Amino acid sequence: MCGIVGYIGKQKALPILMEGLRRESYRGYDSSGIVVLDNGKPVCVKAVGKLENLEKKLQGNQLDGSVGVGHVRWSTHGGVTEENAHPHSDCQGNIFLVHNGIIENYKELKDKLISEGHKFVSETDTETIIHLIEKFFKGNLEKAVREALPLLKGTYGLAVIARDDPQKIVVARLSSPLLVGLGDNEYLVASDPAAIIAHTKKVIYLDDGEIVTLTPDNFFIQDANQNHVEKTVNEIDWNIEEAQKGGYSHFMLKEIIEQPESITNTLRGKLIAESGSAKLGGLELVQEKLKEVERFNIVACGTAYYASLVGRYMLEEYAGIPCEADFASEFRYRKFILTKKTASLFISQSGETADTLAALAEVKRKGGLTLSIVNVVGSSVARETDAGVYNHAGPEIGVASTKAFTSQLAILALLTLFLGRQREMSLVTGQRIVKEISRIPELSRKVLENNGKIKELAEKYKNFDNFLFLGRKYNYPVALEGALKLKEISYIHAEGCGAGEMKHGPIALIDEKFPTVAICPLDSVYEKMVSNIEEIRARKGPVIAIATEGDKDIEKIADDVIYIPKTLEMLTPILSVIPLQLFAYHMAVLNGKDPDYPRNLAKSCTVE
Ligand code: AGP
Repeated sequence: MCGIVGYIGKQKALPILMEGLRRESYRGYDSSGIVVLDNGKPVCVKAVGKLENLEKKLQGNQLDGSVGVGHVRWSTHGGVTEENAHPHSDCQGNIFLVHNGIIENYKELKDKLISEGHKFVSETDTETIIHLIEKFFKGNLEKAVREALPLLKGTYGLAVIARDDPQKIVVARLSSPLLVGLGDNEYLVASDPAAIIAHTKKVIYLDDGEIVTLTPDNFFIQDANQNHVEKTVNEIDWNIEEAQKGGYSHFMLKEIIEQPESITNTLRGKLIAESGSAKLGGLELVQEKLKEVERFNIVACGTAYYASLVGRYMLEEYAGIPCEADFASEFRYRKFILTKKTASLFISQSGETADTLAALAEVKRKGGLTLSIVNVVGSSVARETDAGVYNHAGPEIGVASTKAFTSQLAILALLTLFLGRQREMSLVTGQRIVKEISRIPELSRKVLENNGKIKELAEKYKNFDNFLFLGRKYNYPVALEGALKLKEISYIHAEGCGAGEMKHGPIALIDEKFPTVAICPLDSVYEKMVSNIEEIRARKGPVIAIATEGDKDIEKIADDVIYIPKTLEMLTPILSVIPLQLFAYHMAVLNGKDPDYPRNLAKSCTVE
């Protein structure tokens, strides 16, 4: 995934581009670059590494130009070098392009262009695009772009400027997210709204195949067949502060701590106490179809997949609907048996994950009913499913997903309530669930009060190199999620395991150097979990238990205990995951890692 920013208008472009790239830096931090048309002359500056390296190179650079584009890169093709950094230019250095996506047929295109005399300077797939545009450029930039794009196979979000057609930015989108910001006689383009909300909150989300031409006083959008396209103008409801760290040392910590608010926002207006049900406006169009649904399939990646596993238990136990959950990257290659009474639910924070989109396309190809739970408004998964529910958890900037996960669980509980009350769930049960869900924001606030104690725990365990995370039933996915959090930001090896599976192999790992985090709330599998903890202790394995307030017995068998409030078994994961998020965060910081920019990872995997 990469980040794109562009500006055309009456102000100097450079400061606006750099401010936008700073807000998109989570999307890629291998390298970055900008190009500005300065008094008609393209000035391009690129740097390897974090954005601050580009800022250093630009220090004192007084570029007056008011047209420009910028890019932060997460490499897919070609190493992390300045030559491979974007923007890329044509042979003469007259046309410049920034790109997010993958061009799958770039090799054959590149060979042909080289045979026609084009000179390539990078190893990237992207550079092929700009040489194709050069080939067709005869003075009109959008015309050249339109001739080049049909030759490409793959995905792109791109922005192009040209010395010889200077008062213009041409923008195009195919699978990689792009939006246009509408200012006062100025226009912006970005991969993420956070990059431009300082200048405008009016945005248009592009759809696949659309090509936009931005000029200082106008813009027009055409589809692949050159038909004019009228688009909805969205008003972003985030303010810039939300997208900032809000005083916390890292986005990740801010987003963990703000979970009571994000869960409150997720639930807002959706709980109907009187009928013991949930109001999900985004599903109203398909609610009659949902009554007929006999099977659910939930498809997602990473943390969103672990939320899917919790949702599977919920839907089966409380809505009485058979349910599967699958990694999107696996599902898309399965011969999935789709019936008319199957609903497929896609969960994605970014709404742009390539594997999830590919799995979604597979279900749509078979005519299946598609639903989504997405955080980023207007993102591809949201727009390409039949219906869905937005998280409204606010921007999640930290690469490690935290508040999106608890928001996904909250919505899955609402969906379970909604579907259950369409089926056998009684009014009384529905009202009990509504009441308990409405307590979750406050209960999550209580869990966060353990932050100091969890930091001490991380201090105690910071030098261990391996961890096992154990859970059962609703907390088995939480064990997987806790392990993912720890490994992805601290780079400490961590393995999540269904506690019942431990005896089938993983217990061989246990000794005094291999601590276990055991999620052991007072629930239907508590006794089994206690047995597992005792098996660990018998092998001298240190144990950190996540337990229910008031459970004193657990202290006899665990070295350390973090307590969470009692709630419905199906809602426990929303609380039990929070100590694991904080533990991972503190372990990363105490080990000198930057939790917001974990190595090798990007916030959204918009390429496979
Ligand atoms: C979670 O901490 C990771 N950042 C990653 O597993 C993420 O959950 C996964 O890539 C799915 O992203 P999505 O929710 O945006 O589709």
